[in-house]
Amino acid sequence: MEMNKPLALVTGGASGMGLATVERLARDGFAVVMVDRVEALAVEETGRLQGLGLDVQSRIVDLTDEAAVRRMVQELPPITALVNNAGVFDERKFMEVTSDDFRRAYEINMIAAATLTQEAVRRMPDGGRIVNIASRAYVGARNHPHYVASKAAIVGYTRASAMELAPRGILVNAIAPGLIDTPLLRALTPERMAAQLALQPTGKAGRPEDIARAVSFLVSPDMGFITGQVLFVDGGKSLGGTTS
Ligand SMILES: NC(=O)c1ccc[n+]([C@@H]2O[C@H](COP(=O)([O-])OP(=O)(O)OC[C@H]3O[C@@H](n4cnc5c(N)ncnc54)[C@H](O)[C@@H]3O)[C@@H](O)[C@H]2O)c1
Repeated sequence: MEMNKPLALVTGGASGMGLATVERLARDGFAVVMVDRVEALAVEETGRLQGLGLDVQSRIVDLTDEAAVRRMVQELPPITALVNNAGVFDERKFMEVTSDDFRRAYEINMIAAATLTQEAVRRMPDGGRIVNIASRAYVGARNHPHYVASKAAIVGYTRASAMELAPRGILVNAIAPGLIDTPLLRALTPERMAAQLALQPTGKAGRPEDIARAVSFLVSPDMGFITGQVLFVDGGKSLGGTTS
């Protein structure tokens, strides 16, 4: 890790939009640490990106392990750009979802991000940046109430963090991705995937790079006057129309 570069940390960085974000931020000039719990994938992708000459390292941590998260941050140089991206998604019918489903979703989609944020901002330089990956679903969706609620919670936490950290010039924003073509969508049956695609005004899912671009903008030092906002990157799904 080159010490003269600002450090970016991306959670869930071994797959999907997190992985695309790791590569994007490394190309932007950050030293990047990807954090993931899947060691084989993290090691393989870190090696591939290092092979491209990019300044990328990995840390294998289960982000729901609070002590391990705090220790990891304390052992790193100060983090300038934090991207809370790791998350889990599964479908449960409204009348079948359990309190454990809610706890599981909240543990990673909300509480892990708050723990990491709290530890990171202790030493984050003034003017740092935080991006939380929420979901378009936070404004409403069927068949995953626990996920929707956890993503609405991270939007609330984004706004609270933006208020708390503004005096230090730390800007905190959320991205609400729509349907993005990543391994996470394996949780959808083919029928549910077709139903989701039918709701896309553009008729297609987005790419992980579409999210990486938006993160790159929100963590850029040139972006100096947006905080506490939610940027929808969803091919127009939040407009509420359908393709017909
Ligand atoms: N793909 C979509 O359509 C979509 C839409 C809206 C929001 N999102 C959100 O985007 C984010 C990234 O999703 P993705 O589609 O790239 O998914 P993905 O499954 O490809 O990647 C998520 C990564 O997070 C890691 N992770 C999960 N739990 C972890 C934990 N406890 N500790 C450490 N790492 C953990 C996984 O190992 C995985 O590498 C998630 O927060 C997801 O909810 C995705």
